[in-house]
Parts: sequence; structure tokens; C-alpha cells
Amino acid sequence: MSQPRRLFVTTALPYANGHFHIGHIMEYIQADIWVRFQRMQGHEVNFVCADDAHGAPIMIAADKAGKTPQQFVADIAAGRKPYLDGFHIGFDNWHSTDGPENHVLAQQIYKDLKANGLIETRTIEQFFDPEKNMFLPDRFIKGECPNCHAKDQYGDNCEVCSKVYSPTDLINPYSALSGAKPVLKQSEHFFFKLSDPRCLAFLDQWTQSGAVQPEVLNKISEWIEPDEHGKTKMGDWDISRDAPYFGIEIPDAPGKYFYVWLDAPVGYLASLKNLFDRTGRDFDAFMADPTTEQVHFIGKDIITFHTLFWPAMLKFSGRKVPNAVFVHGFLTVNNGEKMSKSRGTGLDPLKYLQLGMNPEWLRYYLAAKLSARNEDIDFNPEDFLLRVNSDLIGKYINIASRAAGFIAKRFDGQLGEVSADGDALLDHLQSAAPSITELYAEREYGKALREIMLLADRVNAYVDQNKPWELAKKEGMDGRLHDVCTTCIEAFRLLTLYLKPVLPALAVQVEAFLQSGPLQFTDTARLLGKGHAINPYQHLMQRVDVKQLDALFEPPPAPVEAAPVPGGEPIADTITIDDFAKIDLRIAQIVNCEAVEGSTKLLRLTLDVGEGKTRNVFSGIASAYKPEDLVGKLTVVVANLAPRKMKFGVSEGMVLAASHADEKAQRGIHILNPWPGATPGMRVR
Ligand code: 2FM
Ligand code: ZN
Repeated sequence: MSQPRRLFVTTALPYANGHFHIGHIMEYIQADIWVRFQRMQGHEVNFVCADDAHGAPIMIAADKAGKTPQQFVADIAAGRKPYLDGFHIGFDNWHSTDGPENHVLAQQIYKDLKANGLIETRTIEQFFDPEKNMFLPDRFIKGECPNCHAKDQYGDNCEVCSKVYSPTDLINPYSALSGAKPVLKQSEHFFFKLSDPRCLAFLDQWTQSGAVQPEVLNKISEWIEPDEHGKTKMGDWDISRDAPYFGIEIPDAPGKYFYVWLDAPVGYLASLKNLFDRTGRDFDAFMADPTTEQVHFIGKDIITFHTLFWPAMLKFSGRKVPNAVFVHGFLTVNNGEKMSKSRGTGLDPLKYLQLGMNPEWLRYYLAAKLSARNEDIDFNPEDFLLRVNSDLIGKYINIASRAAGFIAKRFDGQLGEVSADGDALLDHLQSAAPSITELYAEREYGKALREIMLLADRVNAYVDQNKPWELAKKEGMDGRLHDVCTTCIEAFRLLTLYLKPVLPALAVQVEAFLQSGPLQFTDTARLLGKGHAINPYQHLMQRVDVKQLDALFEPPPAPVEAAPVPGGEPIADTITIDDFAKIDLRIAQIVNCEAVEGSTKLLRLTLDVGEGKTRNVFSGIASAYKPEDLVGKLTVVVANLAPRKMKFGVSEGMVLAASHADEKAQRGIHILNPWPGATPGMRVR
């Protein structure tokens, strides 16, 4: 073999504010397959990850949980292992961006960039929460959309009309942390001068060096390529945040911290350094070695950080730049429905394991769907069942189960001679090695598995032609039976070798069964050979039971005991669907709305509920809405509520509105508004 490669491989560092979801697991499986494949070729791989510990959201979540950020992050980290072990994801190290190595490295990289003239300070104006005494990240400022006037929209974009704006454009902005009205305040920020011609020239060259997929290059070139006036869209990057912040302090700048995205990718290096320090290896020498290849697996949502900011940080701090950034798409479940745990449509990886489902089914299924391209893939339960049961088990596992019994019972566990037709079949299997190797190397796992399953088809056709179960009954056919079963076992070994990056635990079982020693890609030309003894066959893999899939996608049961929720109001007692059906909710159009004389709380609504007449409803929303703002709008009404006589008249229903029980004044009342398309009289269920 040519020189073994020296690889440094990472997956994106997950934020330490929640458990893994299936998207994380998919990325880890994709990378793990590649890593195992490289190792099976004799290459050196250092495969690391870490928790992304810093940033305002984690600081705020920790505060809410009554923990220090360090404790909060440690508690999340403590829950990682069952997922990683469970899905056979073999990281060499799992560290944290709050580890000491990262503090040192991030500060050093910053100093190097500064020495290179690429750091600049500027005074900017930002919203500040006077109650919490902190600058507010965009996501923690809410208010009315300046475009469509939807209430309670985030500071960066409107979820109703999709308009992108800056927090200062919001009407009546408030802090999502305290409810306070934010004030504009000046602060000095640090910027990484990505618009510097040196950075642009480097990025132009690096992004076209083959380090990114063509479709990714397409996406990012808009930032680098000059327009007709010779200008690029690339701006300088704000890399600082003010205290209080959970992060790494900026050297010689008291009260200033690195923005989490500055130190997060440095965590790749920190995790590797931590591994090397623990195992007595020289981190600096490894990173300085020009043959070391640095490879990052990431999702499509974080492309710019990894293909623009991060390579520039490395380059201009005098470090090795990534050799490749491999971008994958998102995983959807059931026809592209976006993953959502609360709706119960998600695939909870821990639940998958707890149900006793085989992790290698998922590895196999995801591998069958993955390609080298940045495109979304879908988890479809029926497809999953079919691929695992018909392909993995029906085509591959069955080869061993059909042949091994005869070898044990009739031939004392020993392999025999292979004759010409068996030889031809094995030749065919062996000659597929270069193409399968290339497909794995290119991350074309779907294509690799298709090719392997075609080989399995050939083997099964050979079994069907030779019918060992009939040979076994015929007088004088022992030699042929031995020959056919030996061919099957040799073929099974080769197929297992090809599948080993995807099915590592199964491969270990097969290695024990075949007494083959560890299967390697360098070993495809070899066969076990005549006289080789194998162990009795033991069942290798169960089929997927449809009941397991039903259980997996069953929505989590409603909490029985009242759980604390944000805002302090516990969830009410569980009801049945029949209880719910008693409430007749209808879409209503507010045809008229007026103030109620003598009441500061109530508005009088005239509603069209699609009955051919209107209804009169009083609603306690005067503090939140002006009557004229509601006329013509759609909302939801409880249409079968007993009419209620009030001081000002009879109320014939109730309009639905959201609020916190005890914070109406602070966070307001918000009446429900259906998505476009609903019309008066439609039932809400
Ligand atoms: O998007 C995320 O989940 C980030 N925590 C990824 C960071 S990757 C690397 F830069 F650390
Ligand atoms: Zn809007």
C-alpha cells in the first residue's frame, strides 16, 4: 500500500443545551462509517468531537435551571454516552469548548490574527436589557413586526411574513428575558476583518481547491466573488460579546468575551490536543505535519462558519487549513415533515435504543440513503422495514444461515475445496473491491451498499441453482455440498468485509464465527481457504418488527402529573380525545369590534361563525388590541359554550387567546389567528 494517510476528522460540536436528536446521530454515523473505512485501509484516523458549551442561550438556560453554566453543561455531557455507545459511534475523544485547551488555543489564534492586522474595534449600538443588565442577543428581543404588524416576533426576522430586519426595527420591542423595554446602548466590539483583500484572496483560492462540494461552492461564492463594481458581499465579522457572557475572555479586553462561534471550531483543535496530551502524543508536531489531513463533517446550516470564517481564522493565525469540509443535508421523517419532537413525528434516538431496536439497522438504513451530496434524506418507516428485512437480512445474513449448518454438521466445521463455478463467483466478488473502496472514500454509501447487495444477489442465485438442502439429501453429493457451502461462507466473509464500516458490531460477531481475524480492506484478495475451521453458526440478526416502528413513532404520552412550564402555569389534567371533542371550536371572522362603555377590560365582538347570522361575544382583550385593529381578522371561538349573561349583555361564545396566568400585563394577551386558507365556520380539531 502507498503511505498510510494521517487523518484528523471531526463532526460539528453540538450545543450543550439539549440531548442529541436524530440529526446529530445521522451526522455521527456518516462520519463514523468513513472513519472506520479509512482505518480498515490501514490509515491513521483521529476522530474527535466535543460539547459546544458557550454562548448566551446556554448561559440563560442554565440560569433558568438554577445551575451554573459549567454545571448545566456538565449535566448535558453526562448524558452523551448512551447515544454514542448505543449507535457504535467510535470517537477517540469527546471534550468541551470550555476546557482549558480551548481557552488557550482560542486566545492564541486571536492574538495571531491581531498581530496580522486583522482585528479591529468599532463602537456599535445594541439593545440592552436594563433589568437584567445585559446586552440582548437578537433572539432575545421581541416585538411587533414592522412589516405585517404581527406581535411577538423575534429581533431578526418575522415568523409570520418572513421579513428580515434588525431588532431596532421592531415596534414596541421588549426583552424576552425580563419583559423590560430595551434601551439602545453603545459598546465597543471586536471584528475579524474578513473583508480584507488578503482574506478574500485566500478564500477565493481555498474554496476552489476542491475542499468543498460543488453545490456548496455555489452557495458560498456569492460572498467572495466581486460584483460588477468590484465589491464583494463579505463583511467583517463581529467576534466579541459583552459580559455577562459564558465564554472565553478576550485578552487585554476586560469584560469582553469571544462570541461563541469564534471559539466553537477551535474546539476541534482543543479536543484533539486534549486527546494527544492524554496519550503522550505531540499535538503541535501532528498539526505542523504537512501530510496531516483535516476533515470536518457538518450540516448545511453551518456552511459559512466552516467554509469562510474558520479557514480564514486558521490561515491568518498561521495554521493548517482544512483539507475538506463535507456537508450533508437534513434528515426528515415521513415525507419531509420537519423533525419535531413535540409533535411526535420525530425519531427519538434514545427511544429507538430503549425499544431494543438494533442500532445497525439504522446505520444500514441511513447509509443506504446517504450520498456525497448536500441533500436532505428522509426516514420512511415502511422503507426502513423493507430495506432491513429484505436486503440486509433477506439477502445478506441468510447466506450464512443457509450454508453454515452443513459445514458444522457434515464437515466438522471445516471448509473444503472450491470448484470452478464457485471460484468464478468469488472472483467476481473480489474484483468489486476497488469500486466499493472508491465509493466509501467518496462518501457514496448508498451506491456502495447497492453494489454490495448486487453481489449478494449473485451469491443467492448461486445458492438457488445449487440447492444445498437438496444436495444434502442426495447420495454421493457430499463433495459438491461441501464445495457449495464453502463458496457461500467465503462469499459471506467478503460481503461482511465490505459491510464492516456500516455494521461494525455485526462484523465482530462474524469474525468470531468465521475465526477470520479482523477483516480489513487490505485483505480482499485473500480467502479463508481449504481446511479453515469455522465456529457453529449463531443467530446474527433479528428482523424489524412493525410493532417496534409503531412504538417508536407513537407520540409521547401526555404528562400525567402537572409539570412545571415556563410561565409557571402547570399543564392541566389529562383528558381523552372524547373530552376534547365536546368542545366545538370554530373559525370566526370578527365583522365588527367596539369598546364597551364602562369597561376597561372588555371589547364587544360581532362574529361570523358561518351560521348565517352573527354572534355577540365579549372578550377581555381591551388592554392588548384596539377595536379597529381586529375588524376583518379571523380567530378561533368556542362555539358551543353556554351563553353567559353579563353586565353589558349576553356573550354567545368565547374567543381563544394566549397569555401567562399571572403576567398578562407584562407579556400580553394574544388572540389566536388561523393560517391563511381557513374560513368562518370551519371546525378546529
Ligand atoms: O450549530 C451548532 O450546533 C453548533 N454548535 C456547531 C458548532 S460546530 C463547531 F464550530 F464547533
Ligand atoms: Zn411580519
